[in-house]
Amino acid sequence: MIIAIVGLGNVGVTVAKGLARKGVDLLLVSRDHNKAHRLAEEIGGRVATYEQVKSADAVILTVPDDVIRDVREKLGKLPQHLVLVHTSGAYPASILEHGRSVAIHPVYSFPFALAPEELQGIYWIIEGEAVEFGKKLVGLLDGRYVVVKSSVKPDYHAVLVALVKGMLSLMGDVERAWKLLGLDTEIYKPMVKGIIERISKYPIDKLLTGPQVRSDTQLWELEVNLIHGKFGWLAKYLEDN
Ligand SMILES: NC(=O)c1ccc[n+]([C@@H]2O[C@H](COP(=O)([O-])OP(=O)(O)OC[C@H]3O[C@@H](n4cnc5c(N)ncnc54)[C@H](OP(=O)(O)O)[C@@H]3O)[C@@H](O)[C@H]2O)c1
Repeated sequence: MIIAIVGLGNVGVTVAKGLARKGVDLLLVSRDHNKAHRLAEEIGGRVATYEQVKSADAVILTVPDDVIRDVREKLGKLPQHLVLVHTSGAYPASILEHGRSVAIHPVYSFPFALAPEELQGIYWIIEGEAVEFGKKLVGLLDGRYVVVKSSVKPDYHAVLVALVKGMLSLMGDVERAWKLLGLDTEIYKPMVKGIIERISKYPIDKLLTGPQVRSDTQLWELEVNLIHGKFGWLAKYLEDN
């Protein structure tokens, strides 16, 4: 099977590496030929142009969401048998305006290109006409999948964006305070890891600990005042919802 990957960014490179491990014949398409050549040397595959992807069985567009339509237009008329894929969580596969199309969205964070092993067992949200092909791709990437209707996509993606931004904002704010204390930020990370692991096993509302839960009211008031006085940027995390 020949698969073309258009856009060698964080997701494109990771997916390319994952598919290369499974012996997929890759066409690598980038605006930067040197980048595509370097990747082809590293993982195998051939550097290709927009025109040449027409010879592939499938083309995966791993370009920014805002330019998917533009790149699709540049590909022009495609053979009917070819499956066109994108990896956006927000947009439906139908924006590809091609009969056999599917969106496979990794529910994962790619701040940079990752080692393909990291994709093992992650969930992919599949949506579009060519669902069966989407499942096959996710299988090649050792992932798990959930098939959804296109109407759900903008909402679930917005929630995921809030999750990632919220988690990282909190961690950044805590790090800022911790550093002022002159302590190593590695100290609290096992605690964070423990909480995250427990999230998969217990209801979230059963996991809160600390003076408020124990009804240590005096200590709670003291700590709220300390946060407001010294680390005001953390105060929003102590508010009850
Ligand atoms: N990052 C994540 O955590 C994540 C998670 C799930 C899904 N996704 C989805 O995956 C897709 C790609 O995201 P990404 O994070 O990999 O983006 P990225 O790292 O910015 O890479 C996108 C690549 O697309 C190409 N590109 C950029 N602008 C272009 C343009 N105007 N015309 C043509 N090609 C262009 C570039 O590759 P070349 O330089 O090789 O041309 C660029 O490296 C998006 O749909 C995104 O929503 C991302």
